[in-house]
Amino acid sequence: MTASERAARWKRAVVYQIYPKSFRDGNGDGVGDIRGVIEKLPYLKDLGVGVAWLSPIFASPMIDNGYDTSDYCAVNPLFGTMADAEELFEEAKKRDIRIVLDIALNHTSTQHPWFQDALAQGEKRDWYWWREGRCGAAPNNWRSIFGGPSWSQPDGDDQFYLHLFDKSQADLNWENPEVRSAIHAAMRFWLDKGVGGFRLDVVTVISKEPDLRDVIDPRPAPLYRHIAGGPRLHEFLREMRREVFSHYDCIAIGEAPGVDPARAAKLVDPADPMLDMIYHFDLVAMNPVVAGPWDRVAFKRIFSAWDKGIGANGWNSVVISNHDLGRISSRFGDGSPESAKMLLTLVLTQRATPFIYQGDELGMTNAPFESLDDIDDVWAKTTYRLAREKGRTEQQAFAATVAMTRDHARTPFQWSAALNAGFSEAETTWLRVNPNHTTLNAAAQEHDGASVRAFAKQLIALRDDPLWVFGAFEDLAPDDPDVFVYARTYEGRRAVVALNLRGEAKPRPDCVPALTPILPNAGTEIDTLAPWEARIVLV
Ligand code: GLC
Repeated sequence: MTASERAARWKRAVVYQIYPKSFRDGNGDGVGDIRGVIEKLPYLKDLGVGVAWLSPIFASPMIDNGYDTSDYCAVNPLFGTMADAEELFEEAKKRDIRIVLDIALNHTSTQHPWFQDALAQGEKRDWYWWREGRCGAAPNNWRSIFGGPSWSQPDGDDQFYLHLFDKSQADLNWENPEVRSAIHAAMRFWLDKGVGGFRLDVVTVISKEPDLRDVIDPRPAPLYRHIAGGPRLHEFLREMRREVFSHYDCIAIGEAPGVDPARAAKLVDPADPMLDMIYHFDLVAMNPVVAGPWDRVAFKRIFSAWDKGIGANGWNSVVISNHDLGRISSRFGDGSPESAKMLLTLVLTQRATPFIYQGDELGMTNAPFESLDDIDDVWAKTTYRLAREKGRTEQQAFAATVAMTRDHARTPFQWSAALNAGFSEAETTWLRVNPNHTTLNAAAQEHDGASVRAFAKQLIALRDDPLWVFGAFEDLAPDDPDVFVYARTYEGRRAVVALNLRGEAKPRPDCVPALTPILPNAGTEIDTLAPWEARIVLV
């Protein structure tokens, strides 16, 4: 298989993200695991996905659910054994599903032996970023992405260590070649076992200006924007390609906060490939549940900007949901099956590799969290604590926490109406199941041709046609505040997609041909788009 044939295969695939802790509990301890994923491979096959990306399965104290790694070459016992992982890779391969592992390579857990050695002033001190404080306070004004300072001073140490995320996630010093070799070795360890590639966690921040200067605006949200794309990022990624990826039939997907299309295009340029695709943050960062009304025109503009910026040269992915966000049908829709289907249509009809987050194919929704005890997310807990420290009442702090918590996406997968939604046979599960599992679940949708699941399957199958994978993209009504209308054109064929982004009927825009749709999700009137209607017509 040539490099370009391999690339075409990745471009055609639909990626399905599994959050192992919440997918299926195979051993009855209330926590999802690898045996659970093996058990559900036929479900993935039935859906038609070609790649399953697993959030981290490596050893970890699980303060950030695996994004705090304590051993890159060991399986977290919570999820199973190395033998389970190997069986998963084998079984997936038999079904033509490639397993992509998630590697948090910007930082390790502070419980990683590397950090423990650094803490003890050992040989690995320089594997992390240590700096003197300024007048007893942090060495610079960077704010952690999760809130609070991004520096902590261990008891008895005269220096602070850097952590862009939680204080339990210490940033690795990629300037040190030993760090890079150790990460490369870990990647090769898994690739030798037959995994299909990696999703590289926050990879755009691995390179930092060694002087770690203050940023102009230290508010937490834009920190990525200030520091992403550091001076040696390209060098580090080229080296990783040379040392690791170029020796395997694998894919490198970069989670890329803080870069715009022009900078991202460089990372996926086929003439000098560093990564195979980019997973940008412009859509991820949009959360109307937290930030107020949904600016639909700005939202649409993001698709055009990234398509123009990267387009056919290099490759985009389209990610509007993942384990860090509320559910799409609650974020952009009204939780109805129609809005879930419309949003799936949006994801699956772009010129980009579509990513489906587990449960989106059923239209799973945000959860009705009632108390702080229902919440596990370390970011959410920090948000609550900081809100209280700022003087917010318990009620206000809790409301802000519920709006932002990543746990909405992490409630157990809803397999059926049975105990614990068929996720686990345990008495209690690590997060409570969403009470709507009694009606919203995979089993109920299995034989229902009008279900979100059936619709998702049809959309995935649609991508067998190269028009949907490779066809040029054009926004036909960029200023329309209600409807997203775009054309996809390929070798003389043309399709038009019209998505009603509102829960009320809208007149058919003139640029949408008055033709019968191929995959209607709602409505039957040619001249009116029903609430949340997704209309695809072949011209
Ligand atoms: C990424 C992950 C997120 C994690 C963070 C730190 O954004 O998606 O879950 O908390 O990186 O590793």
